[in-house]
Amino acid sequence: VKVTYVAHDGTRTELHGDPGDSVMSLAIAQGIDGIVGECGGSMMCATCHCYVEEDWAEATGPRMDGEEDMLESAACEVTERSRLSCQIKLTEAHDGLVVHLPEEQV
Ligand code: FES
Repeated sequence: VKVTYVAHDGTRTELHGDPGDSVMSLAIAQGIDGIVGECGGSMMCATCHCYVEEDWAEATGPRMDGEEDMLESAACEVTERSRLSCQIKLTEAHDGLVVHLPEEQV
C-alpha cells in the first residue's frame, strides 16, 4: 500500500506499508520527521496530526470516536481534513493515499 507524506516544506516521501499498519506507525518505522506519535497510537496525544488530501477523504472515512477531542490539543491549525494518523489503518483501498504534515506536532 503506497502512502505519500508531504512535509510542511513540500518534500514528498513515498512509503510502502502493509494493510493493518497505521499512517502513523508506517511513518515512525520509516523515520518520517513530521509525525511524532508520542502515545504510540492510543489516541492520547495529538502528535500524529495530519491532513488527508481531499481526494482521499472518503477512503479514509470519518474521524473515530474521541479523535475530535484529541485534535483540539494539536499544535497546528485543525481543519476539516485533519486526522490523527494513528487512527487511519491502511487497507488495499488506501493505495496511493496522500497526507500532508503540519509544521509542528508539539
Ligand atoms: Fe498519539 Fe495518534 S499517536 S494520538
